[in-house]
Amino acid sequence: MIQHRRDNPPSDDDWTFIDVLMAKSSSEEELISDTTGFFIAGYHTTAFMMVWTLYYMCENQEVQEKVYQEIIEVIGKDEQVNHVNLELLKYMRCVFDESIRCSVLAPFAARVNMNADMVVQGYTIPKWTPVVHALGVVQMDDEIWPEPERYTIYWLNTN
Ligand code: HEM
Repeated sequence: MIQHRRDNPPSDDDWTFIDVLMAKSSSEEELISDTTGFFIAGYHTTAFMMVWTLYYMCENQEVQEKVYQEIIEVIGKDEQVNHVNLELLKYMRCVFDESIRCSVLAPFAARVNMNADMVVQGYTIPKWTPVVHALGVVQMDDEIWPEPERYTIYWLNTN
């Protein structure tokens, strides 16, 4: 792909993610590493999110209708959704967020505390401790979500 983009440079308004990586990487090694990393990390997560979102919208037709109406009102029928106007689709963002939460798409994250000992809510986490964030537990906590397993769009229209 990199070679293909090099042989066929994009026009100014046709840049894709890989073109940005190619322009910003400081070495060939960094470029190959980042490209591989982003593609591996980015494709199944995004694909599963899309599949779950479509599934929930089929199950909740009123949600699908609102997503549709928002696109019509904000973007219009003639323009396509893109990475710039996507920001304006506030309801759709809630739908994606709820799809990620309700499907528990990303059940955990993990980091090592690299810097120094730190205290979180009274608990000391020594330097070099691996910390696993139990996202799936939080996403299904009924003290936060009244009915965690029910698909519910938490939507406060402030426009
Ligand atoms: C709905 C889509 C996505 C979900 C649910 C998701 C979820 C996650 C989670 C849970 C982590 C672990 C974070 C941590 O341990 O702190 C992660 C890391 C990462 N994701 Fe995603 N991701 C998504 C899309 C993407 C996309 C599109 C890309 C790249 C184009 C990407 C690139 C990465 C990379 C590079 C890391 C490692 C970051 C690091 O170690 O600093 N992800 N993602």
